Amino acid sequence: MRTMRSVRESAVTWFTTCRSLALLLAAVLATAIPPPTAAGDAVARVGERCGDRIARFHASEDARARGLPSIALAAPLPDLGPVPAGSPVQPTFFEIAGRPAVRIDIEAGTSLYGTGETTGPLLRNGTQVIAWNYDAYGYGPGMPHLYQSHPWVLAVRADGSAYGILAETSYRCRIDLAEYVLFAAEGPPFSVLIIERDSPQEVITTLADLIGRIPLPPQWALGYHQCRYSYCPEARVLEIARGFRDRAIPCDVIWLDIDYMDGFRSFTFHPEHFPDPRRLTDQLHAWGFKVVAMIDPGIKRDPEYFAYDSGSRADAWVKAAGDRDYIGTVWPGECVFPDFTNADARAWWAGLHPKFLANGIDGVWNDMNEPAIFNAEGRTMPLDNVHRADRELGGIGPHARYHNVYGMQMVRATQAGLLQARPDRRPFVLTRANFIGGHRYAAAWTGDNVAVWEHLEGSIPMILNLGLSGQPFAGADIGGFSRAGTGALFARWMGIGALMPFARGHTEKGNIDKEPWSFGQEIERTCRQAIQRRYRLMPYLYTLFREAAETGVPVMRPLFFADPSDPKLRAEDDAFLLGGDVLVIARPLPNSDFSTVRPAGIWRRFDLGLGDGANLELPRIFLRGGAILPAGPVSEYAGQVLLDPLTLYICLDEHGLAEGLLYEDAGEGFDYREGAFRLARYRARQEGETLVLTRERVTGNWPTVDREVVVHLLTLRGMVTGRGRSGATLRIPLAAAD
Ligand code: NOJ
Repeated sequence: MRTMRSVRESAVTWFTTCRSLALLLAAVLATAIPPPTAAGDAVARVGERCGDRIARFHASEDARARGLPSIALAAPLPDLGPVPAGSPVQPTFFEIAGRPAVRIDIEAGTSLYGTGETTGPLLRNGTQVIAWNYDAYGYGPGMPHLYQSHPWVLAVRADGSAYGILAETSYRCRIDLAEYVLFAAEGPPFSVLIIERDSPQEVITTLADLIGRIPLPPQWALGYHQCRYSYCPEARVLEIARGFRDRAIPCDVIWLDIDYMDGFRSFTFHPEHFPDPRRLTDQLHAWGFKVVAMIDPGIKRDPEYFAYDSGSRADAWVKAAGDRDYIGTVWPGECVFPDFTNADARAWWAGLHPKFLANGIDGVWNDMNEPAIFNAEGRTMPLDNVHRADRELGGIGPHARYHNVYGMQMVRATQAGLLQARPDRRPFVLTRANFIGGHRYAAAWTGDNVAVWEHLEGSIPMILNLGLSGQPFAGADIGGFSRAGTGALFARWMGIGALMPFARGHTEKGNIDKEPWSFGQEIERTCRQAIQRRYRLMPYLYTLFREAAETGVPVMRPLFFADPSDPKLRAEDDAFLLGGDVLVIARPLPNSDFSTVRPAGIWRRFDLGLGDGANLELPRIFLRGGAILPAGPVSEYAGQVLLDPLTLYICLDEHGLAEGLLYEDAGEGFDYREGAFRLARYRARQEGETLVLTRERVTGNWPTVDREVVVHLLTLRGMVTGRGRSGATLRIPLAAAD
């Protein structure tokens, strides 16, 4: 058995190699676009107001007239006249080696965040990112581009006020964060959109007003997901599913990676390994599982294959320069690639889904959609390939312009396919590639990570910065995709990953097994507690997702959201907030302890009654003074049992008060849009040995329910428990501390 030390040493060697390669790559890319020279080469800019303290700036009148549409936005913005003089954030437009660039100087004490899916720390000052979607298998630290592009920076000033800058270009774009924020794109002049607000939270919610919010996911998508490349044949899929139920480890979804297909042809099933997909999915559904299957964009060039045939007839393929279909190699061999920037192609793609989903497939996993191409320079299609894009996206144009939005437009089409097939069910799509704004169509996972501690640690700031870039529904492969890793790493990863917005275990072909029970009983126990925690927290998690869908505020939040003016909270990578009320101290490295910085005020440690409080491998969780956290019973899968009893963890503030929200609906379907839900606010105050708990309806038409309420009041002395039946006012006698 390898010792922890040797694992760490080999991880360090691997990281040193990756870092050198990444730095070399960054250096090459940086020389392609040199850093800004003198400020004297700035060109005049023009600006328009687009809303309350929202301004758009262009390099010139000419650039404004010829500007391309902003693909990130959910809808075009109005021009409300000139930007008032003295706007606090003033961009400088200039050129670097003939290419457009924009620089925004920052005040001392400004902390920078955002830039989407990136390696490295939460605090982005001093980093460089290249917005360029890339098949980044086994990426190392310092890798300048991953699978998704978010040319967006959130700047938080020393006093906690904040602004955000969106570079409105889909071209490859260098984002340099130094004493300035610099965007330098390899395309035509582009505008920047600047949102000025009093806090980072307000910047993020305004960003969501502009680029859209996630649709409320089906509740099952918030459960634990189990994947591997690949569970195959069907007997193995059933064995895994049974493994969860037999071991009382909750799980909502079993995933089918590419080997379920017939020769890697999307929308097909392997005739021997998956001879009767409906039989398989019926069985999984009977056990309470949902099934998500992979669909790749590369369509095998095979005249006998229906998708190739119908796509060819629909003239759906991206063209190589010279108007022939572009051909590139991916898993099935020679492939053509749908031009998702084109409405007709998207409609054709969407139309492939009803028949496929009728096999009992509940959600779709879009992979390889950077697009990744094995036999091409830069691992993607040539930049002069031609897209016949919709006019609203910018019209016909080169791949250089549409590369970064290829994945986004793919998931747009896939989501449309799911809705076409099942208009009454909420679509669930997971994607590897995306562009800022693409969270409207799909959740994200962070691609092919590595089973080393540094990747576990890096997953926290990565998911946080995705949340600060508009994508609240994201997670990393729990346990690490490539490499084996150790049981200790796996246990710790499950503990942390199970508290992230998207929680899925996954690993690559040929790797060791990475199910929760694969590392022996001790680690299985930790994994069970980690996943059961998630299910106990489901009412809170679902309430947070509803908040994200309504406002855009992320589910997983950086510590500085607790107090944006506290400089100590600005750079914490090893702890995060789940919503506004739960502090998670993660301990993502083998030797890290629980002594990270904490926001000021009352934070009381609690556990979920699963033996989880005593398990040092699990993150410690704390409840904010003034908060009421709704929790539910452990179940095998989301929605299996009624929320009865409802458990409320309560931590009073210094005035003896607390409050919290609980959102409930059917967990599926769209009736909630017509008011079929209940949003309740609970308030608590202590009167001597009695806790007075009141409940009021905030909104929603669902009738109130009569159920048992279990109250756990977290006090300095420990936890005090009381019980009652739900009602408008509950007076709960508080027994002695548990
Ligand atoms: C690459 C994806 O990143 C990975 O998650 C998947 O397992 C493989 N493709 C095979 O489909």
